[in-house]
Amino acid sequence: MHQPAALDLINESARFFSSPDGDPLIALEKAHLTQLTLCDMLEQIADSIPGQINRETCSKLGSNLLPLIRNIHQFEEDILYPLAVERLGTSPAIESTITRLKYEHCEDECFAEELADALHELGTGKAPRNPEAMGYMLRGFFEAMRRHIAFEHEHLVRLLRQAATDGQHGLVTG
Ligand SMILES: [Fe+2]
Repeated sequence: MHQPAALDLINESARFFSSPDGDPLIALEKAHLTQLTLCDMLEQIADSIPGQINRETCSKLGSNLLPLIRNIHQFEEDILYPLAVERLGTSPAIESTITRLKYEHCEDECFAEELADALHELGTGKAPRNPEAMGYMLRGFFEAMRRHIAFEHEHLVRLLRQAATDGQHGLVTG
């Protein structure tokens, strides 16, 4: 995705997830698409340090990063995970999946605060004080986020879709 379209998606999703509506599984697809787009942008920034940094992109991402991440996490924790428990039932596996996902959200939000500050600094046009550390920070964030999304997809979305399909075919009775 080109950068202007990616920035628009991030901006629009941050707004959408401040008051999400519609089918939660479709909203989650949007959340994952937006977060993966964000990861791709952060990877491009990491690759552009120190010589080819797009200041404007850094500045815009620095402003949108935290609202986006927080709003998506809130949607997942307030709407999606309770729905998963309702549809899949309580089991040690589901409980430990949700505990792990919430813990990772917490870690990502802490990390995102630091990253937003660093992106704002890059956006001002100052050369990064420590380009290697900056690149390392960016990579640490987007790699963790990609792993989180893959886990969330494999251990929650797939099961929820399966439950919805079974429900449609009358395999789930209550
Ligand atoms: Fe999540």
